[in-house]
Amino acid sequence: MAIYNIVTKEDKLLRKKSQVVPEITPNVIKLLDRMQETMYAANGVGLAAPQVGILKRVVVIDIGEDGPGALRLINPEILERSGWQNGPEGCLSCPGMYGDVKRSQYVKVKALNEQGEEIIIEAEDFLARALQHEIDHLEGILFIDTATNIEYEK
Ligand code: NI
Repeated sequence: MAIYNIVTKEDKLLRKKSQVVPEITPNVIKLLDRMQETMYAANGVGLAAPQVGILKRVVVIDIGEDGPGALRLINPEILERSGWQNGPEGCLSCPGMYGDVKRSQYVKVKALNEQGEEIIIEAEDFLARALQHEIDHLEGILFIDTATNIEYEK
């Protein structure tokens, strides 16, 4: 299966709001598959559809060993949040850039899975951070908008 090109921060598309997925079609499943493969190929822990040029509310996340495995979320939405954490982030659309972002310590997220069922995810620490980062992408927000101590690494 082909992987997508990842668009970078200069692309205005990353600043647009993504659209709700009205129906889970085979194309949505294919999008999830290809996004997941693209994320792994790029050694990322998360990817949102606008990062591959598609303005749909679809994200994939896999934070590795400490996480629940691959999360494939359609129309994710933060229902509750609490606490604070400040920590380093990067983004596949901002290659070589890292910075600290203040995020909620805990989030409760509602989404659809690929069967069209509503699921609830409660997350803390790094998984909560990843969820907030990816859901921000669906609103056209990049981590560099609020990051402090931005560093460039080549
Ligand atoms: Ni990102």
